[in-house]
Amino acid sequence: MKILVIGNGGREYSIGLKLSEDKNISQIYFAPGNAATSKLGENIKISDFNELAKFAKDKNITLTIVGPEAPLSAGIVDVFKAHGLAIFGPSKAAARLEGSKAYMKDFLAKNGIKTARYLNTDDKEKAFKFIETLGIPLVVKADGLCAGKGVIIAQSHDEAKEAVEQMLSGESFGDAGKNVVVEEYLDGFELSFFAICDGENFVSLPVAQDHKRLLTGDKGPNTGGMGAYAPSPLATQQIITRLENEVVRPTLKGMQAEGAPFCGVLFVGVMVVNGEPYVLEFNVRFGDPECEVLMPLIDGNLGEILLKAANGELENVKLKDKCAVGVVIASSEYPYKNSPKAKISVKEIPNDTHLVYAGVSEENGEIYASGGRVLVCVGLGKDIMTAQQNAYKLCENVHFEGMQFRTDIAWQALK
Ligand code: AMP
Ligand code: GLY
Repeated sequence: MKILVIGNGGREYSIGLKLSEDKNISQIYFAPGNAATSKLGENIKISDFNELAKFAKDKNITLTIVGPEAPLSAGIVDVFKAHGLAIFGPSKAAARLEGSKAYMKDFLAKNGIKTARYLNTDDKEKAFKFIETLGIPLVVKADGLCAGKGVIIAQSHDEAKEAVEQMLSGESFGDAGKNVVVEEYLDGFELSFFAICDGENFVSLPVAQDHKRLLTGDKGPNTGGMGAYAPSPLATQQIITRLENEVVRPTLKGMQAEGAPFCGVLFVGVMVVNGEPYVLEFNVRFGDPECEVLMPLIDGNLGEILLKAANGELENVKLKDKCAVGVVIASSEYPYKNSPKAKISVKEIPNDTHLVYAGVSEENGEIYASGGRVLVCVGLGKDIMTAQQNAYKLCENVHFEGMQFRTDIAWQALK
């Protein structure tokens, strides 16, 4: 079996690492990949979808796995399917669950799925009126994909109105802000819930928690995610069952009814408020860094599992009775601006740990930190505490100029 992985981050490296355990996989290609994925397989510099599909045909690729949302929203799955190729991910129509917050919120309302009270509009006056009905803080979101930056938590009605004005004028996010969602603020704890879906059926993965703020103690600005762990003890069996029955099942049914069956990873961003799970958002792909801690918990061949899902024949997925903690090591200026390139040195890889490479490049055969989130130090263990200790042992063995990481990943599980 040959597999093509689309993307270049830690998520895609961790998918590649998992695939490389499978002796039935003879070759892994990454498009475009990063400086370290080239050690797991071969990096390909093609970005045009039709060209990629042609490449997949020429190389006899069995399955393509799409990591990031952008190619999904741009319709890569539709192009590959038109060429008769197996690809794991949602169609362009189904990817709107992530690509348009307005579509997602209206879909939730239509299908009776619990979410924050909201208004979806392109009319400033209507938005202003709705803002007055909400308490503070309150939330203003740009409709389209904004690389995680389109969410404003406003501390006053005036601040919310200003955000609406800037979004609707196209000033802040261009076309992505031409529609806005205004919603009530939910105060609780967040979970990242993942279901592998084949259009009709699904399998849930261990529930993870991300750490969005830059600094230890949940301080500092929001980031793409500074670390994750799974399974989270905060996700009780009752919450999991409710998410399966009250969110995932109606979503799969609802998407079938829309003529856009959902095949791929349904990532439910959940806020639990007084024991009640609310949907904050949908993503149509694995989370990053959540993927990095989920991959080592899957007991089985990822390629086979996802190929079956892509063909609408998903089967049960076995999970390891283990815990994983992933600590992101970011470069000095992250998330504000680019940082100077820095050479990475790794002393040793302790037992029950491994490195996941994200924002890295290669020069003269050496690996350099060149992106914002550079590495993820993953630790495994029989419980979260052991996994956390292992992850931090690995952090001590890694060095590059200006590196920064949080020292409290998984704190909510251990408090
Ligand atoms: P989103 O892109 O919708 O997930 O929003 C990004 C982050 O903003 C979420 O992970 C939450 O931390 C926060 N957020 C979004 N919507 C709400 C809400 N209604 N109440 C509280 N926090 C929110
Ligand atoms: N870690 C959150 C995300 O991937 O969107």
